[in-house]
Amino acid sequence: MNHFLSVEDVPDPEGLVDEALKLKKKPFSFQKLGRNKTLGMLFFNASLRTRMSTQVAARNLGMEVIVMNVSQDSWQIETEDGVVMNGDKAEHVREAAAVMGQYCDVLAIRSFPTLKDKKKDYAEELMHQFSRFAGVPILSMESATLHPLQGLADMMTISEYKKVEKPKVVLTWAPHVKPLPQAVPNSFTQWSRKMDYDFVITHPEGMELPKRFRQDAHIEYDQDKALAGADFVYVKNWSSYKNYGMLGLGKDWMFSQKKLGLTNDAKVMHCLPVRRNVVIADEVLDGPNSVVIQQAGNRVFSAQAVIKRLLESL
Ligand code: CP
Repeated sequence: MNHFLSVEDVPDPEGLVDEALKLKKKPFSFQKLGRNKTLGMLFFNASLRTRMSTQVAARNLGMEVIVMNVSQDSWQIETEDGVVMNGDKAEHVREAAAVMGQYCDVLAIRSFPTLKDKKKDYAEELMHQFSRFAGVPILSMESATLHPLQGLADMMTISEYKKVEKPKVVLTWAPHVKPLPQAVPNSFTQWSRKMDYDFVITHPEGMELPKRFRQDAHIEYDQDKALAGADFVYVKNWSSYKNYGMLGLGKDWMFSQKKLGLTNDAKVMHCLPVRRNVVIADEVLDGPNSVVIQQAGNRVFSAQAVIKRLLESL
């Protein structure tokens, strides 16, 4: 595996889930692999889980870690080619990536979409430019359109809790106070399809995820119908892809105890951070069906499994 930008970079997604679960049991068994190797972590946006879990993962593998908040700690980076750089951005990605690639053995990058320019966001220029110019493996810690490390942690969580081989997994849209990226639901959809679960997406009409990631996934616009018999419910807000970046309406889509009652005693998932009583009700988050904390715990081992594969490819 030369880069990790999406599940499509993984030749054996189920194998990677198993590997991550094995690492969870023995986190320090590959400490020699990362000795004298450095992970550079570049944050273009805020993060709690990704920032901490990826550092723990790298250290479990014996690596050194350098963390940088790009807009605060370094020069702002230009990604467009051929521009006259007479604005705020002092350094071009062509130099920045090539230089950082000399200091680090793997570069991990976290960036968000503009949610204003669909074409630009979905072109994933930043990730592609780093992949092109860094000369070392690039690990996505969430891009404009995908969050593959989160998707892998989600699949680990389902694997740990599932009681049947092919559980019913429902991804349900939820309300929010501000427009959010489509990255988490895009990746959750991609990974769930690779696992061949009985997978259903439910959301208000007009909030369809992009076809390139959901492909022919089953969409059920009636949330109650979708939730019936679900073994896992993944609750997540995303902004509109069609009316790009629009918030989307539907306060009654908040996931409540009543909605949980429609399921097959489903485990409730969310990538976090979650706005209580906007996205999911307190009673659900604090109840026995919520696995959001365990899910976040798995972020260490999803990152560790991916970094291990990238180190093995050096
Ligand atoms: N789920 C997730 O990626 O959390 P952070 O944004 O806090 O890293």
